[in-house]
Amino acid sequence: MYKIAVAGTGYVGLVAGVCFAEKGHQVTCVDIDEEKVELMRSGVSPIFEEGLEELMQKNFEAGRIDYTIDYRSAYKDADAVFLGVGTPEKPDGSADLSYIATVARQVAESVENDCLVVVKSTVPVGTNDKVEQFIQDFLVNDVKVEVASNPEFLAQGSAVHDTLYAERIIIGTESEWAENMLKKIYEPFHLPIVPVNRRSAEMIKYASNDFLALKISYMNDIANLCELVGADIQDVAEGMSFDERIGAKFLNAGIGFGGSCFPKDTQALDYLAKQNGYELQTVKAAIDVNKKQKTLLYKKASNRLITFNGLKVAVLGLTFKPGTDDLREAPSLSNVPLLLEQGADIYAFDPVGADNFANLYPEGPIGQGSITYVQKPQEALQDANVCFIFTEWGEVKGVTPDQYKKLMRTPLVYDGRNIYGVEDMKRAGVEYHSIGREPGKVEVTREPKQNELQSTRY
Ligand code: UDX
Repeated sequence: MYKIAVAGTGYVGLVAGVCFAEKGHQVTCVDIDEEKVELMRSGVSPIFEEGLEELMQKNFEAGRIDYTIDYRSAYKDADAVFLGVGTPEKPDGSADLSYIATVARQVAESVENDCLVVVKSTVPVGTNDKVEQFIQDFLVNDVKVEVASNPEFLAQGSAVHDTLYAERIIIGTESEWAENMLKKIYEPFHLPIVPVNRRSAEMIKYASNDFLALKISYMNDIANLCELVGADIQDVAEGMSFDERIGAKFLNAGIGFGGSCFPKDTQALDYLAKQNGYELQTVKAAIDVNKKQKTLLYKKASNRLITFNGLKVAVLGLTFKPGTDDLREAPSLSNVPLLLEQGADIYAFDPVGADNFANLYPEGPIGQGSITYVQKPQEALQDANVCFIFTEWGEVKGVTPDQYKKLMRTPLVYDGRNIYGVEDMKRAGVEYHSIGREPGKVEVTREPKQNELQSTRY
């Protein structure tokens, strides 16, 4: 078993650290945030991720994992230091590598034994060569330090499972010593290992993520065409999925991809291509389609309603996908500001992400409109003039077609996740607009509600 240090305790670093401990390694996770370190030492996870807290507590009690801000003590005699720090997108689309550089320098100044530095963060191809040189330049002691690339493929919401049961472990190394050490670290996981060189490993990460992003944008593009020609994207996707070369996953058309990876990694590969004098046309197309997709329903609803001013708008789902409190690049963030600008009174439901959203859009009046956070989807729907579905949470799926009809003032639903059957909504008397399917051809009748006479709006 190895002595492992992990730099950064976000989704990548913390989950990796906890899973290494679970497999018997001795792990120290390093973060710069003292409060966060104390929180983790008390068994609380700073991120919402199923099963993570239990594993944190179990391995902490077993003495296999600890958390610290004292990087020197963590790095000095570590066999391997894994880097899971962020590489946020800069305005020009390139990756900001300042966190990587800071940790690399700390490692160089701390290590007292031979050490393998393993970069898990997603970094542009060629970065790890530079990181290795950077460490050599700042190395204080006469020890061997090599850099390996070991990209992370976990998805938020299933991060622990994705790490313990990964479909493959990519290890990009430049020496047998590094390759063997990584193979041994991963031995207790019993997973397929793909050894390649460092640059190929870096590229595998981008190429995989961008392929998935492309797959989604392709399905969204086809969905939009389906609507125009009278086909149904869900039937089309099902028909396609039987071809094993296409596969059944990631064929769901919707309101565009969000999250911390696809938007950033498509931009980064596009940027890398440009830097190398190449135009990556497919990835550019995926980016363009996604941008338009995010506000597609808003635009449709705008045409239908003329204005949102003074309307009660139910927003179901704020996070970029279910199972996470993460709002990064979430479709809600593209739509809510437009609705507020138009003077909408938004009633938003999200079982996990509402607090994070309220940090950006505090409850109360905002510009011409206002936002209120509610505990149940039904509360948002009560007397609403229109509803937008942005995230397919179980609680949202639990709302029946009849409830839209019964609760809303005007049963008008724009569903960015194709949760409902078109026929089911039609039968319930709901005017239903979704992605790539026939719009529910129901002329909604506006039935006066009891309290309507008191309402000054609409
Ligand atoms: C993704 C990759 O799946 C993971 O391998 C990588 O390490 C990080 O990026 P994540 O961003 O957590 O993971 O979520 P994922 O489940 O892949 O979904 C990304 C976005 O695509 C979400 O906004 C989701 O709603 C959207 N999506 C996904 C679709 O619109 N349709 C689909 O069929 C699948």
